[in-house]
Amino acid sequence: MLHTNITVNEKGHLTFAGMDTVALAEKYGTPLMLIDENRIRERAATYIGAMERYFGGESKPLYASKALSFTGIYKIIADAGMSIDIVSSGELYTAKNAGFPLENAYFHGNNKTDFDIEFAIDNGIGYFIADGYEEIDKIDSYAAEKGIKQRVLLRLTPGIDPHTNEKISTGKVDCKFGTPIETGQAEKYIAYVLSKANIELMGYHCHIGSQVFDCVPFCDAADIMIEYIAYIKKTLGYTAKVLNLGGGFGVRYVESDPYINIDENIRLISEHIKARCAENGIAVPTILMEPGRSMVADAGMTIYSVGTVKTISDYKSYVSVDGGMTDNPRYTLYGSKYTMALANKANEPADFECTVGGRCCESGDLLGENIFIQKPTRGDLLAVFVTGAYNYSMASNYNRVPRPPVVIIKDGADRLAVRRETFENLCALDVD
Ligand code: LLP
Repeated sequence: MLHTNITVNEKGHLTFAGMDTVALAEKYGTPLMLIDENRIRERAATYIGAMERYFGGESKPLYASKALSFTGIYKIIADAGMSIDIVSSGELYTAKNAGFPLENAYFHGNNKTDFDIEFAIDNGIGYFIADGYEEIDKIDSYAAEKGIKQRVLLRLTPGIDPHTNEKISTGKVDCKFGTPIETGQAEKYIAYVLSKANIELMGYHCHIGSQVFDCVPFCDAADIMIEYIAYIKKTLGYTAKVLNLGGGFGVRYVESDPYINIDENIRLISEHIKARCAENGIAVPTILMEPGRSMVADAGMTIYSVGTVKTISDYKSYVSVDGGMTDNPRYTLYGSKYTMALANKANEPADFECTVGGRCCESGDLLGENIFIQKPTRGDLLAVFVTGAYNYSMASNYNRVPRPPVVIIKDGADRLAVRRETFENLCALDVD
């Protein structure tokens, strides 16, 4: 199968993380989001191990928690000894709710509000990754009020196009994130930050994009950033201690996607960086990376019930399920491809070609087109693979559809991590 945590058992049922998905759907209902805890722990160990081995010192990965964010995830990540990247006070609050040590959290985003900055400092945030002068002014003045020196990295744009989907590419100059190096603006920005008494400038951050399948875009970005560290050392006399290369390693959603060897790619990036640092006469900085998708994507699977099956003569077949863009908006937004199978008929031939639609009153609410699955009828269970990243975290209540529950599987046992949203929850905030 697509990943090692997906198999078929003797009943012909799809199993995920060693458990019968049909039995889990009976127990919890559908739609249902399943999370393989051991897979997340393996990924954390891979990233932590590789960063320690190849970079050493204080270099480490941060889990980009926008990919999948609920209380239980932060508990797992904390227990795995991994730091996090957060992008909002909501993520910060959720991490805090899990007891996550916030000194190991890095606060991202291109527009942190005054509330965000105060809330984060009040809660002992480790680092801000600042974007723009306004944030610097607010961080500096609030840190002064609190009598602290706040650690900060600066988001810079290296001007790299990683050849990924336009909507998930962020390293180019023309982008809402970061201050561009190319235009000379970054140098002025750094000089300004260095003049702030209550900010400890730790270094720079760049993020080139998501779903990147090899080390080349990271090495290209590192080239620009290392040269820039050397340049700023010369012009401003400041040497960055930390270089954060962002996230972006790709994930195998369909058979035609490649496998990516994370350990080997980190090794290659480290060799490249060490050589470039030597050439530029600077010490190798502490390197941070921010994997999100590759930490959790294949640790997720969504199970739906099949409802309507409609074949339009001489056109195609539509299979509609009891979820859709409300729990997985990625096909609607990006045309992202997924692999699917009928969980209760997993041994039958997958020769039924169809478009899989959600339940929303919106023709773009699709989970995929030209999908091959076993011949479905109402009541069958449709499993969508590799849904751990940017599915639950991007879920909505469009059409007042409640969000599915999240069930964590670990060592052959399942536990409810997030309850299914109720109709009462949907009206809980309605005042009048
Ligand atoms: N660091 C920063 C600053 C980021 O902006 C992101 C993702 C990451 C790390 C994690 O990147 P990853 O390892 O997950 O590729 N919703 C889109 C993806 C948006 C990515 C946003 N930033 C999707 O569903 O494909």
